Amino acid sequence: MIKAVQIEKSYNNEKVLKSIDLTVEEGEFLSIMGESGSGKSTLISILGGFLQPDCGKVFWNGQDISKFSQNQMAEMRCSRVGFVFQSFKLISTLTAKDNILLPVTLGKKYNEQTQKYIDELTKELNLTELLDKYPDQLSGGQCQRVAIVRALAYKPKLVILDEPTGALDSVMEQKVMGVLSRINRELKTTIIQVTHSQNVSKVGSRIIVLKDGQIQQ
Ligand SMILES: Nc1ncnc2c1ncn2[C@@H]1O[C@H](COP(=O)(O)OP(=O)(O)O)[C@@H](O)[C@H]1O
Ligand SMILES: [Mg+2]
Repeated sequence: MIKAVQIEKSYNNEKVLKSIDLTVEEGEFLSIMGESGSGKSTLISILGGFLQPDCGKVFWNGQDISKFSQNQMAEMRCSRVGFVFQSFKLISTLTAKDNILLPVTLGKKYNEQTQKYIDELTKELNLTELLDKYPDQLSGGQCQRVAIVRALAYKPKLVILDEPTGALDSVMEQKVMGVLSRINRELKTTIIQVTHSQNVSKVGSRIIVLKDGQIQQ
């Protein structure tokens, strides 16, 4: 489903990623671990098509994503990849509900079934009462859950999450991991998550560790 070949990335002449090779199969649930600053966010931004590597290629279903035009890339991201950023990136001028609906409406996927799915997810993650609030009226953990529902709402084939439970208490962490393992099992959604937590990483089917810009063997 996703293949990275000899990815390199530097910031200010400092190499953050050194020749990363990684293949993620369809239906896999991968956890990426590693110390703070080891390049986890950089790697998943490249895998998700948000950031260009200096060298190397990323393939989605065999297609070299560097060959996509900006429009194609935007379209692919909207229709195929749900991304949860470490900083959530909710749109401050939209309510929680409208943040969640944005990718669905942009992708012209809004229908009764999607609304029902969103209702179920928001209920499961205790967001139902908060849907009319704006991001600055929500706590970090609430924003994080809104960002998670936004990424899942249109049932993308691939979901990439950057420390998706970093702002959550252990009860909510369990609920989020329950949702992720369910969609991985039932919808065969491919999941790539970055996490610091051993417990969270174990929910997935494979763990890799980044160290010194490389995947530890
Ligand atoms: N946009 C950027 N400009 C300059 N340096 C950056 C940028 N993004 C990340 N870095 C640096 O690259 C390294 C890896 O960052 P990051 O991928 O965010 O690591 P992690 O997610 O594992 O904490 C860090 O040293 C960080 O300071
Ligand atoms: Mg990070």
